[in-house]
Amino acid sequence: MGNNNIKTALVTGAASGLGFELALLLAKDGYHLVLIDIDSAKLEAAKANILKEYPTQIIVMVKDLSVINIAQEIYDDLNTLNIDVIINNAGFGLFGTFYETDWERGSQMLHLHILTTTHLIKLILPGMVERGSGKILNLSSLAAFQPGPLMALYYASKAYILSFSEAISNELKGTGVTVTALCPGPTKTAFQSTVSEDAAENKIAFNMACAKEVALYGYKAMQKGKVIAIPGVFNKFLSFLPRVLTRNRTTKIVRKIQDKNRDC
Ligand SMILES: NC(=O)c1ccc[n+]([C@@H]2O[C@H](COP(=O)([O-])OP(=O)(O)OC[C@H]3O[C@@H](n4cnc5c(N)ncnc54)[C@H](OP(=O)(O)O)[C@@H]3O)[C@@H](O)[C@H]2O)c1
Repeated sequence: MGNNNIKTALVTGAASGLGFELALLLAKDGYHLVLIDIDSAKLEAAKANILKEYPTQIIVMVKDLSVINIAQEIYDDLNTLNIDVIINNAGFGLFGTFYETDWERGSQMLHLHILTTTHLIKLILPGMVERGSGKILNLSSLAAFQPGPLMALYYASKAYILSFSEAISNELKGTGVTVTALCPGPTKTAFQSTVSEDAAENKIAFNMACAKEVALYGYKAMQKGKVIAIPGVFNKFLSFLPRVLTRNRTTKIVRKIQDKNRDC
């Protein structure tokens, strides 16, 4: 790695779902890859699957992105390697009333979605600005547009990612670096089954998108430097609702959807 003509992309949560599909798209376009995920076997399998289709250079890093200062550890491991694309994708959901959900899991989510994402950008972004080019894709969600009873921390953390991405995208105008927030609706990946250990609570089937299509939509938006990318006409409509309804009303609607879909 480090060839000046070939760009390098870092993808978190690359072992499955949207992260894996995004890594495939990058490999197809000739990027060298730094793939990060928590499970070594899954990450090695993902690397092998990408290499079967596209001959590129891949570094894998097995990291738990929910622990303090992990972004600094990753940055140090990169050892002056220039990163041209950052895809902050790793994430998970947590279902239940806030007062009852497991705090350890909740704080891991906040670290992963908020602190690690922010710190990784903080460390890598100055180099991008100095070189006058770079692309950042942050995985937000349709959940970012309104409060989410029964998934309160998840919705709030995704709102942070959207707001933070929009703000720094504005700051970066004219630098050659762009920031995109991808805001998918429900997408068929392992994510839905990790939201809760209770299978009855993982019943969302309506408006479910395919991971390949969502990844391609986000990838194109990132390459174009779009600030917000919402895949699907119905999702665009849903993201617009909080602008015409009161916040109280939208919060009640989300509560109804969560109650119905999760069958609680
Ligand atoms: N699927 C949806 O409906 C949907 C909708 C909107 C937004 N999103 C967002 O899209 C992103 C990707 O999700 P996905 O649907 O592709 O889910 P996924 O298939 O579960 O992929 C997420 C990946 O992140 C990894 N990961 C989780 N915690 C980690 C940690 N602490 N350190 C390192 N890696 C970790 C997971 O590893 P393990 O599986 O081994 O834990 C998994 O490989 C997430 O940010 C999610 O919030 C998803």
